[in-house]
Amino acid sequence: MKPLQFAAIPLFLMLLAAAMAGENPSGKDNVGSNLPPRVRGLLIQEMNAILGATRNILDGLVRGQHAVVASNAQAIHDSFILEQQMTEKDRQALMRAVPERFIERDRAFHQLSARLAEAARNGNSARQRALFADMVEACAACHTHHARERFPGFAEGSNQAR
Ligand code: HEC
Repeated sequence: MKPLQFAAIPLFLMLLAAAMAGENPSGKDNVGSNLPPRVRGLLIQEMNAILGATRNILDGLVRGQHAVVASNAQAIHDSFILEQQMTEKDRQALMRAVPERFIERDRAFHQLSARLAEAARNGNSARQRALFADMVEACAACHTHHARERFPGFAEGSNQAR
């Protein structure tokens, strides 16, 4: 067997295994590394702002501070960085790079944050907790499908897989 053929087999098997596991780290599903660096930087800033707001929401929830929950959920809905700093060109680059499902998940996530803000303005604690649980679910679901490179704990077969 020629060395070239020999080398080609494991590579093929690796690709097959990756395809069967539904994993394609360099494919379109994984969003981060497909973005132009500037847009990726904005997304990461946005994510860190969202994490900060999410912590504040938890704080507000356990203290019954509806106004804290309302303002932080509204801030997530209104988008901290992306809406304000993305140019039209950035937006087009983002849309080209991501799969349709990512856009849908993002939209659903932002709708959830609006509903949470509204429940908080109405002072409905039980509803706020239910919507917050849905939001955490939405974070993890999007990371599982679109940010596995960044969060390998969500990889298939991992103990932390959900
Ligand atoms: C619609 C998809 C989506 C949703 C919803 C989402 N994220 Fe993310 N998030 C991403 C992607 C994609 C990355 C990885 C970006 C990269 O690899 O550069 C990421 C990365 C992050 C990071 C890491 C940022 C860094 O410093 O590298 C944090 C923190 C984070 N998200 C928090 C959250 C929290 C908290 C929520 C929910 C309240 C959330 N995200 C919801 C897509 C999402």
